[in-house]
Order: sequence, then structure tokens, then C-alpha cells
Amino acid sequence: MDKATGTATAERLQSGFGNEFATEAIPGALPQGRNSPQRPAHGLYTEQLSGTPFTVPRTEARRTWLYRLRPSANHPPYRRIDHASLAGPLAPPNPNRLRWSPLPIPAAPTDFLAGLTTMFATAEGAFDHGVSVHLYAANRSMERIFFTADGELLIVPEQGALLLETELGRLRVAPGEIAVIPRGIRFRVVLPAGTARGYLAENHGAVLRLPDLGPIGANGLANPRDFLTPTAWFEQRDEPVEVVQKFLGTLWTTTLGHSPLDVVAWHGTLAPYKYDLATFNAVGSIGFDHPDPSIFTVLTAPTATPGRANLDFVIFPPRWLVAEDTFRPPWFHRNVMNECMGLITGVYDGKAEGFLPGGFSLHPMMSAHGPDAATTERAEAATLAPHKIDGTLAFMFETAAVLRPTALAMASAQLQSGYDTVWNGLGKRFAP
Ligand SMILES: [Fe+2]
Repeated sequence: MDKATGTATAERLQSGFGNEFATEAIPGALPQGRNSPQRPAHGLYTEQLSGTPFTVPRTEARRTWLYRLRPSANHPPYRRIDHASLAGPLAPPNPNRLRWSPLPIPAAPTDFLAGLTTMFATAEGAFDHGVSVHLYAANRSMERIFFTADGELLIVPEQGALLLETELGRLRVAPGEIAVIPRGIRFRVVLPAGTARGYLAENHGAVLRLPDLGPIGANGLANPRDFLTPTAWFEQRDEPVEVVQKFLGTLWTTTLGHSPLDVVAWHGTLAPYKYDLATFNAVGSIGFDHPDPSIFTVLTAPTATPGRANLDFVIFPPRWLVAEDTFRPPWFHRNVMNECMGLITGVYDGKAEGFLPGGFSLHPMMSAHGPDAATTERAEAATLAPHKIDGTLAFMFETAAVLRPTALAMASAQLQSGYDTVWNGLGKRFAP
């Protein structure tokens, strides 16, 4: 139940991607015809939250107007705190292919923030572009509130649902769904199932958006109406509430005399959203060969160079394979991008074993990779009838910037030794 209003905590959602949403939790709270009236209704304060510079092209602009119980500006100073596993130092450069087993759910009381571990980052302490990849594993709902000034958060649950209570409303996100929380938006993570584990990409660059579709046309891949944004919701908690922010990789805390989740109405284009990956309209080959994995891009954050992404979020969902005379698994390849792969459920079709739900791998730019020896042998011997890959969901965070493991990731007990041996056995068989 909602502590402030006594109402059930079900999320209320609206559909669309990047819309100018308009929503109010109390009738009349949202001003009409102007953004900042002299005296907003109900004694609310007006505040603008900008996710992009004011003067970017209109198609790029993301900003939202908030109507809230108190302006965010009214807060005591933040003071620095430590977090042993967040944004730690990077390990020395390492071109090797690396793979980790899943991190365990902690035994000690651990909320979502305490349970964050940074595994990879494209830079140390510089967050104007690039990506950081964190894992989370938690067994307690957050009491405190968190936001990051360093980027937007793409959350990929692997175990246990999350109830994201944000300034702009509530989102319930289960494994198989994703959520994005824009830079700066404050939130609390409640664990309806008691425990949760998953992946987190912190995008320090341009905001995520849907990829262009080119010759695919006006439909396909992720469709805009399947993205869901919360409607306004607020709580009145006039009691001490800790707020923690991440700022250039460092953590800072302050305590307010109230909950900052006090936005009664809002309108704008900068908002959290969620998306059910089962609604992804996968497109593939109906002849021979298969397209590059970019055909599975759900969201992309571009750089200034067309087609060179700061972050692509790519999935490998259930789908039919029908191509004739084709090596159907992902082929052997080397490329300029850096790939962090994770597994939400099932078995990935490019690896026979060792790549586990909750586990993850890192293939840096120009590292040679592809199917392991067992998968290759099976694929070459297979009778190529139409075949459905089912019961599996893998994904990739892909970036043009080099992802480097943290020192902590390299020291992790979950780092698999001998990952390279999965390609053993792919020896010479040349027989002209
Ligand atoms: Fe790859």
C-alpha cells in the first residue's frame, strides 16, 4: 500500500516513446497554456529538469516541467561517502576475451545501491561520453533515494522484479522487461520478490532512442507504442529521507526532511520508461545468410559519427531460423565495437556452455570471437529445417568506446579462467 495515500501501489502507465507526456495525480495540478505560472495550483512549485542542452535540435531535446511540493533546490550540502564496489579504478588495458559467472545474491542486508558493482567502464572518472556497466544484486528494498548525474540508467533485470518509485511515477519491471531512468531523476528501488539481480548500463552520452529503420520501413523492431511511461504519482513523507547522488563516479549523501518523490504533476519529454522485450518485432533472413546483429537493436545512443553508437542495446530473442545453406549461429568475427553480453534466461545459441543467466562476457574491439567449438560442430552438421530458437533471451551492450574491466572485476572470483579454451578444437581441416 502507498504510505501517503493508502492506495494500492500498482503502476499507472501511458504509452509512447519520447512523447510530450502530460500527467497529473490531482486534478488541476498541471497548468494549462503556460509552463511557469506566477502561482501554480495547490501551492506547488515549478521546476524544469533538462536532459539535453537547451539549444539542441528540437528532435533531440528532452526536458520536463515538474510541479512539486517543494523545489529540489531546498536541500542541505551533500557530503562524500564511500562505496567499495562502485566506479572503482580500472584494470590495466587488456585485449583478452573475458567471461564471468553470475555474482551471488549477497547474504548481508544489501539494497539496490549498496548492491551495485561496476564491472566495466570506458573511462575512469570522465563521464561526458562512453558507458559504464554495473551489475546489481540486492536483498532489501531501498529506504534511501538515489540518482546519478553521470548518465541515464538502462536496467536489465535477470532475477526478481523491481518496483522503481521515481519522481515521475512508478514502474514495475520484471525479468524480460527493461527500464530506463534518465540522468538526474531520483528514484527508490523496492524489491517485491525480496531479492533481485541484473545488469545496468550507465549511458554517459546522448540519450537512448529508437534506431532508424531504413529500408525496413515504418514498422518493426521495437515499436514506439510498446514503451510505457509512468503517470504522475507522489508521496507526502515529512520525515528524514536520505538522498544519494553519483557525481563523476563519486558518491555523495544528504538528508532531506521529506521525500523528494513529491511531484504531483509533470509534462515533458524526459521521463522514465519501460519496455517488454517480448514485444520486439524480430526481423531476419528468409533466404540465406543472416543480417548483422544490428538488426536486433532495441535502443541506440548515437555519437556525432553516423552509425557509430555510444551505446547500442541489442537483444537475441526467441525467433525462427529458416535460412538455407547458412551457418546459422553468429559467425566468427572481429570488429571495431566493444561487446558486453549478458543472459537473462535460457541458453544463448552461440555458446554451448559456461555462459550462464546472470553471467556476462566482454569482447573488446578487434578481439576474435564467435561460436565455440561445440556449437560450430553442431551447426555445420545440422539439417536446416525451419527451427525456432525458444526459451532464451540474451542481450548485448555494445559501444564504440573501449570498455575496460575494473580492477575489482579482474579480481572477482567469478572471472572464468580458461575462457579461451571454448575455441579449442577449431583446428586445421583444410583438405583441397
Ligand atoms: Fe561479437
